[in-house]
Amino acid sequence: MHKAIPVCGDTWWVGVNDHETDLFESLWALPQGVAYNAYVILGEATVAIDTVKGPCFDDYIDKVEHVLGDRSLDYLVVNHMEPDHAGVIHQLKRRYPGVRFIGNAKTLPMLKGYHDIDADIVQVKDGETLDIGGHVLAFYTIPMVHWPESMVTCDTTTKTLFSNDAFGGYGAHEGGLFDNEKTRERWEGEMLRYYATIVARYSGMVQTALKKLAGLEIERIFPAHGTLFQHDVHQVVELYDRWSRHETECGVVVAYGSMYGNTRRMADAVCRGICEGGVKNVHLYDSSRDEPSLILRDIWRYRGVALLGCTYNTLLFPPLDALCTKLINRMPKKRYLGIAGSYSWSKGALDALRAFAEAVKLERVGPEVEVYASPTDADLEQCVLLGKNMAAAIGACPAR
Ligand code: FEO
Repeated sequence: MHKAIPVCGDTWWVGVNDHETDLFESLWALPQGVAYNAYVILGEATVAIDTVKGPCFDDYIDKVEHVLGDRSLDYLVVNHMEPDHAGVIHQLKRRYPGVRFIGNAKTLPMLKGYHDIDADIVQVKDGETLDIGGHVLAFYTIPMVHWPESMVTCDTTTKTLFSNDAFGGYGAHEGGLFDNEKTRERWEGEMLRYYATIVARYSGMVQTALKKLAGLEIERIFPAHGTLFQHDVHQVVELYDRWSRHETECGVVVAYGSMYGNTRRMADAVCRGICEGGVKNVHLYDSSRDEPSLILRDIWRYRGVALLGCTYNTLLFPPLDALCTKLINRMPKKRYLGIAGSYSWSKGALDALRAFAEAVKLERVGPEVEVYASPTDADLEQCVLLGKNMAAAIGACPAR
């Protein structure tokens, strides 16, 4: 039997570590798995906060039963209806038929659509509270972080914010649940990768949410994925603030798409130029082989991005084109962009990258480089110049 873990007084973690799913949303690699954090609070009434993904029900319900023992479950707070958190609601109702569902107006049609549930619902408004005896819960909507119905629940008694996707990260728990039980490098990297892939598009709404929640007295943040924060609460809010304001570190991502190595040589030359320009933090990615979420994570982290692609059937090489589409979707700002293309029997790549640059509206760094067949020495010098100009644009990196 799987056992729940006490995380704060009579609040328990009943989440699941998923090492079976290889792609989150069938898109993003999970080399270290992913955790669906869910919780139970034992007040005079019993409250579950969020659930887990469908296939994880057995593991989850073991833990819920372990905490509740002979007690029934009185409420389930549905902070978010995406099925990684709401996947087992109808099964939970079957196990605890008296349970009532707490959600906001936008939760209700989804609860009906996904689980055919339209009764036993407690609809809450923004800022409304519920006294469960021993704990007072307050509910705040945070639309588009990451769906329209998303909300957070604050246990005002223990000063714990159950933040759902907000402040969440990839990676299953390996022993410790808390920030002070892991290295910051471990949780921050996976948290930024989650932000870049899942939340970044809605950065403006993250800012709105942070402002709304700023007045709350919070000592702990328990998200629905990844690390639970009780030590670095201030730092983690600061990170979210920076990422959602598009603040970046000194560094450049160079991503390329190359079939036979010629565009790769151009990318190498751009990297050389960046280094010669005094920036040590250069990250070279092959769009055909490297995990897109890592490329997106580093683009969200750093101030410069250079994209170099060959032409494929008169268009941009498909893996790099896919990366461009992902970037347009996430609307990054306050970064510098350099582009270069290559071609043989037909042009196409550089035109497509120009169209991308127009769409993404990042500040441009030249020169644009376009190479026929294999780069000449003069072509490579242009690529080095692009790298140097990028380094100059993003400014000198602080000494470490
Ligand atoms: Fe982790 Fe938007 O679900």
